[in-house]
Amino acid sequence: MARLVMRTRSKPYPVTVGDETKYICGCGLSATQPFCDGTHKKTRDEPEGTLCWYDADVGRNELADAFPNIRTPSE
Ligand code: FES
Repeated sequence: MARLVMRTRSKPYPVTVGDETKYICGCGLSATQPFCDGTHKKTRDEPEGTLCWYDADVGRNELADAFPNIRTPSE
């Protein structure tokens, strides 16, 4: 099974427990899930209004209107 889920967040979620803060990946691209590894920086210059997908080498590809109603998790 596989699925596409659109992510619009371009930064991690900070989670603090006691004195320790961890950063949970919000972009979906981290190789160290569920933790952020900094890969979200590649999303910062995504063109507005363009759906992007990333390959195994985190190379960006762009689609226009390929999945007009794809589900987006709430932020
Ligand atoms: S938020 Fe996904 S790698 Fe940082």
